[in-house]
Amino acid sequence: MENIKYNLYERKDPVVLPETLGFGRYFSDNVFVMDYNPQKGWHNPQITALGNLHMHPAASVLHYGQTIFEGLKAYYTPDGEYQLFRPEENFKRLNNSARRLCMPEVDVDFCVEALKELVWIDREWVPRGDKESLYIRPFMFGEEAMLGVKPSDTYKLIFLLSPVGAYYPEGFQAIKILIQDEYVRTVRKGLGECKTAGNYAASMAGQEIARREGCTQVLWLDAVELKYIEEVGTMNIFIQFNDQVATPMLSGGILPGITRKSSMRILRDWGYNVSERQIPLKEVLDRYEKGEVLEIFGTGTAAIISSVGAVRYGGHDFVLNNGNVGPLAERLFNELTGIQKGKVEDRYGWITKVEPLAVNA
Ligand SMILES: Cc1ncc(COP(=O)(O)O)c(C=O)c1O
Repeated sequence: MENIKYNLYERKDPVVLPETLGFGRYFSDNVFVMDYNPQKGWHNPQITALGNLHMHPAASVLHYGQTIFEGLKAYYTPDGEYQLFRPEENFKRLNNSARRLCMPEVDVDFCVEALKELVWIDREWVPRGDKESLYIRPFMFGEEAMLGVKPSDTYKLIFLLSPVGAYYPEGFQAIKILIQDEYVRTVRKGLGECKTAGNYAASMAGQEIARREGCTQVLWLDAVELKYIEEVGTMNIFIQFNDQVATPMLSGGILPGITRKSSMRILRDWGYNVSERQIPLKEVLDRYEKGEVLEIFGTGTAAIISSVGAVRYGGHDFVLNNGNVGPLAERLFNELTGIQKGKVEDRYGWITKVEPLAVNA
């Protein structure tokens, strides 16, 4: 791969972050950008000042949705260092999405190095608050100007950085989620296991119903039988029954979450019986009535570990832990964010330190 070229934003004053960050509203000074064409493959890697894109109105992404993305975070540690959580997993998943959407794969090691360099350059943008971090959005899209349904010839890969706090408006309180069967989000053998814009577009009408019913998110059912619980719009779901912690298996219809995988590892090490399987909604409702559902929580990079205080279904609220954060979700939240923020030993080797590229040092 060629060397990265630099055309950085010339900042004159120190970065001052707003007191309340929310999610995805602010962006750092610089982005990483790289181009693809069939002759050169990936080329022209640059770290450059953030600016608007110039695209032909016929660019394929605007018409046929050939676009994929990732989400990971950089953290500031008590030792004054900056670190990433399992970044190679995100670029591997980007490649899985790329294969399914007939887009070019990226070199995982190069992307991790380029990302470290970008975060290092914009390190002043990594917030230092206890519950804050720098959200990283790598994304790729087809930009060939051609009206016709076929894979684009040319692509762009961009890494965008955004300092963030809590994802949900509730902050880190328990959320309420809605099970509805008017819409489905993804389908097995479709794009369910990809992180691609269309899945999120498909989720918005259901999400609106949730909002009207006073819920933060939808807990989606499988699209074929509307019988099994699958995932939430931005996170995977776990249910603590009296005898096991269950999470829907990777059916092809849900995103293989990196927080899901990490949480299963931690829970198993803590001695929980973790089962990945189909979870019928009926089982959850029946066992709730018998008092066998102890906790429900979601896992995701943006949502971290998000306790579910109530599930709304068919006009009824099924309340958990009196609507408060459950003890297992809280323990897992503390452990995971402890590892991510360098307060708990990285016993799994999940952390990558952010440092400048050797060649630029
Ligand atoms: C639909 C969906 N499911 C699950 C997740 C959780 O995945 P991860 O833990 O890799 O962030 C996300 C968030 O990225 C998501 O958008």
